[in-house]
This record gives sequence, structure tokens and C-alpha cells, in this order.
Amino acid sequence: MYKVASRSDCVFDVNKKLFLTYLIKNGGPELHEYEEFNFIVKTLDPENLHEFREVINPILNVNTLIGRSYVKPFGYPGDFYLIDHIYSNHVNGDKKYRNWDIYYQNQEGTMAVRNRKDYFINQCLNLALKKDGEKRVLILGSGPATDVNEFLNIYTENDIRFDLVDFDQNAIDYSSHKNKKFEKLISYHKVNVLRFEPYMRYDLIWSAGLFDYFREKHFVYLLKKYINYVAEGGELVIGNFSTENPSQILMEVVSEWYLNYRSREDLLKIAGDAGLLNGKVFVDSEALGVNLFLNIQ
Ligand SMILES: C[S@@+](CC[C@H](N)C(=O)[O-])C[C@H]1O[C@@H](n2cnc3c(N)ncnc32)[C@H](O)[C@@H]1O
Repeated sequence: MYKVASRSDCVFDVNKKLFLTYLIKNGGPELHEYEEFNFIVKTLDPENLHEFREVINPILNVNTLIGRSYVKPFGYPGDFYLIDHIYSNHVNGDKKYRNWDIYYQNQEGTMAVRNRKDYFINQCLNLALKKDGEKRVLILGSGPATDVNEFLNIYTENDIRFDLVDFDQNAIDYSSHKNKKFEKLISYHKVNVLRFEPYMRYDLIWSAGLFDYFREKHFVYLLKKYINYVAEGGELVIGNFSTENPSQILMEVVSEWYLNYRSREDLLKIAGDAGLLNGKVFVDSEALGVNLFLNIQ
């Protein structure tokens, strides 16, 4: 009997190629074409991946945000430049790339990155209001430090000092240039977070966009290490993309951007493995629930 192929049975056929070629010509999908493009990405047979990439090759370069994370000019996908451009909602003005950036900026994973910046700013505001006198914040994997920059621009009464740790000198150069006017409030440490040895305790130790790259073993090691540097009444807050990230397939198929996705239960288990469940431990999230935050007080 003749079996009508369901959409997901289809191979990477000529119609899909034509559609993708049309998108490339049009500078990316328009809103009403998102569903069709997402469908092609989500149902792509790994055997067609090479062909798929060949068709979209004209945008797999630093001219688009999605292409930048594929070519990884600094050797890793979420570099400081990309993250800062997500924060500023950057869109390439060139018609050849414009719709691709608009599409990328509208993905839930991208929105969750912007939301985590706001989450950090709220953490800092709470800290500023909670405690008198000088406060200390340590950031692990600080990248562009746009979050710090926005907080310092908003909260002019600030008496928080920031220590930023990043192993990429390019990220440190970028963030120190961006934060030039706040240079008295920020110290930079170019070192791997696995090896950094703090010489003080902090009211807040924050990390987002970093622990998703670590396997459990290193995650647990870092929790055990950094909890020792949390001041009395302070917090350790670690971001991690949730297993419910709707943008995971897009990130993996188009950009080869792989993360260790974790559920709330996974994060609590890791805290338990680090022996930290005796304090106040909970998992919070930004508004979309895509970026989770393990919070240890
Ligand atoms: C995706 S960015 C996140 C930046 C920032 N936390 C944010 O949320 O905007 C991750 C940063 O961590 C840095 N990084 C990655 N692995 C690191 C490690 N083992 N030690 C120190 N920095 C690291 C990278 O250089 C990059 O700047």
C-alpha cells in the first residue's frame, strides 16, 4: 500500500533546499517563515547535515550572530563579542544578513541570555540594599561584563567592588575597555576558574554561561571550592541552561554549540554531591525558565 510520507519522514529534499536558498537570498526568514525553517532544522537527518550547511554557507560567518557562533573566531561559541551583541539586541544593517539576526535575537535561548543579565542586576541591587558598607562580588567567566556595566550605570550610589575572572585576555580587554569609567570598582583576573585562588570572601559569587560547559565532576569541584569564599550571609549563584531550552536543536545543528543542559533536579543533585544541601539551597530561573540558577546561601 502506498504510504503517504509524514513531514518528518521527508528527506532533505529539493523543496527544502529551494526554501533555504530563498532564505539566504532574502537575508534570513521573515516572522511567518520561522516555523518552516525551525521545522527543517528540527527534523534534519544527520546524513543531510553537510548539504544543509553547504546551502546556508553564505551566512555561516561573522556577519551573522548565528554564523559567528558556528565559526567561533575565539575558539569557543559564546564569546564576549557575541554575548555583548545579544545583550544589545544587535542586528546587522546589511540586508543580506538582517533577518538572520532578527530571527536569532528572537529565539528563547537568546532571550534567556538577556534575562540572565537582568537577574544578575537584581542580585546586585538586592545586595546593595541589604547591607551597609563596602560589598564584594566575584564573577566567574565574566565575558564582556555588560551585566556589571549596566548595574553600575543604573545604581550610581554603588559601593560594590567587583572581581572578574576570565581566562580569555580578549574578553578582559573588551570588558575593561567597556567599563573604563568604572575602573576603580573593578579588578580583572586572567586565569582559569579551576585555578583561581581568591584572597577574600565575597557577598555574592556569580557565574552565568560557564558551568554549562563543565561536566559534573568539575561542577562539583568548583562548588566545593568557591563555597569557602562566600562571606557570612552571602550567596553563590550559578547559572546553567535548562534541559527545557527550546533553542537547543538550533544551537547544535546550525552552530555546533553544545552545552551540558541540566534540570532543577540535576542541579540540586550536584549541590548534594558537593555536600551543600545543609544550607539554604534552591533553584531559581529567569522569566522564561530556560536559564536556571542554583542558589546556595
Ligand atoms: C558565555 S560567556 C558568559 C559571560 C558572562 N558571564 C555573561 O553571562 O554575560 C563565558 C565566558 O567564560 C570564559 N571562560 C570559559 N571557560 C573558562 C574558565 N575555565 N575559566 C575562566 N573563564 C572561562 C570565556 O572566556 C567567556 O568569556
